[in-house]
Amino acid sequence: MCLSHRCFCVLCAVLTAILASLIFAAAPSVHAADSSPPPQNGEKKGGTVSFINDIAPILKEKCFGCHGAKNPKGKLDMTKYASFRKGGSKDDPIVPGNPDESYLMTVLTATDKKRMPPKESGAPLPPHQIELIGRWIQQGAKLDAGLNPDADLLRELRLRWTPPPPPAAYPYPVTVTALAFTPDGKKIVVSGHHELTIWDVASGKLEKRIFTRARRAMAMLFLPDGKLVVAGGRPGEEGDVRIYDINGDANRRNADPTGVLILDGVQDKSVMVKQLLDAEDEVLCLALSPDGKKLASGGCDRLVHVWDLSGGYDHIKELPPIENHADWVFGVAFTPDGKRLATASRDKTAKLWDIDAKESILTFPDHQNPVYGVAVKADGTVGYSVGEDNQLRTWKAAAEGKQVRASGGHGKVILKLVQHPKQPLLATCSADQTVRLWNADNGSLVRTLSGHKDYVYAIAISPDGELIASGGFDGEVRIWKVKDGSLVKTFNASPGLRTAQK
Ligand code: HEC
Repeated sequence: MCLSHRCFCVLCAVLTAILASLIFAAAPSVHAADSSPPPQNGEKKGGTVSFINDIAPILKEKCFGCHGAKNPKGKLDMTKYASFRKGGSKDDPIVPGNPDESYLMTVLTATDKKRMPPKESGAPLPPHQIELIGRWIQQGAKLDAGLNPDADLLRELRLRWTPPPPPAAYPYPVTVTALAFTPDGKKIVVSGHHELTIWDVASGKLEKRIFTRARRAMAMLFLPDGKLVVAGGRPGEEGDVRIYDINGDANRRNADPTGVLILDGVQDKSVMVKQLLDAEDEVLCLALSPDGKKLASGGCDRLVHVWDLSGGYDHIKELPPIENHADWVFGVAFTPDGKRLATASRDKTAKLWDIDAKESILTFPDHQNPVYGVAVKADGTVGYSVGEDNQLRTWKAAAEGKQVRASGGHGKVILKLVQHPKQPLLATCSADQTVRLWNADNGSLVRTLSGHKDYVYAIAISPDGELIASGGFDGEVRIWKVKDGSLVKTFNASPGLRTAQK
């Protein structure tokens, strides 16, 4: 479980910290709804305090990082009411009805090294939170009716969390973290803030907004039947893989004043058709087998999930997850026969797996840095990977996974790798503000697409192979012709963005 993303690589530092502060500093109402629950009864002076609504969110934010389920400090696991009350190396830290006698209040108000959270990890709790916890103890330190004392509080809080609506007009640009062309290549789906936005490729006009529970989408792909699979979540909080019908609005045409259709991908089952995964941290990547029957995802929980879709949506089979990477999984790709999976991880390796045996066949370690993207050649003989070392590396997809070549050129980290659907071409995008096309057979650079003024995080190639789209940290989407690199369209994918900001 990853409660706080403490990583210093470009992707995490920029995506998590700066993106959050940019959006939230400018939209305080969104922030309030997003990171802390709305004020409950207990927030009113003297009101009844609820453990799950008032106390657990404080513990989660300020204490779970050290008092989690795995190796908790002081042997005190606070992620369940029962284990919290059992106490750690000391006894139950709470004397119901008597805050003054409760060790919990002692540590919260201490000024010496007893203080929790410890000095080196942050400020003491603000007085109103300490008062709230004291009042809860005074009222008997009760667990809310209907809650199991052994319930995982992280899960319970997740279940109670409701997503805020996306901003009507974005005060700041939202970073594009994922892109997908629709199967007909005429529209492009772009990740937004708690939404997916759909734009017309020819005109660059916004056509639809699909609200999502996930704060951001990290990967998207279309299934053979035209439904859209999206992976994403809220960093450090939750992750999901869901299937959407982007035309699920046929009977309800709610348009905003500018004529943009608004779809509810949170509650409306005709839009959000199926949830495949509920994880404790973000899901970062997706892949579909060439026959369209198997779907794979990877994420911050280090797991690779594989689903068998051949039985239709009512009979999706989840295979046992594959676990062997030591850190987040940033990229997945199927081999052409659909029997193997290549993965890219923050643990500085790319790996090749046998799906049935759930065994790693080979490990490619040459990046010696986090690996952000992976692909497998159409004939299955070689794998490709990109990463923090600015290199596109080609390696044998057999035996020891020996490196065939390294292709340099990008001046900064390479964030994504996408394979052309028809030609032996690879596309990469980088923090160096460029998109590059590479010859997959000999690793030579075919073309550099310049013009972005910020990090380029996402790329997608249209199903017919004619167009390539790229999206940046500054919200800009560029659509180019693969053939000659000419620019077809540029727009900022942040609905209603105040142009004065730019
Ligand atoms: C940066 C890590 C860290 C954070 C954050 C933290 N603690 Fe602790 N906590 C510790 C350590 C280390 C100990 C063990 C101290 C010792 O044994 O002297 C401890 C011990 C305790 C104990 C005594 C447990 C026992 O039975 O011995 C209590 C109670 C406690 N913490 C409460 C809290 C609360 C409440 C919070 C949140 C407001 C919190 N802690 C946040 C590190 C942390």
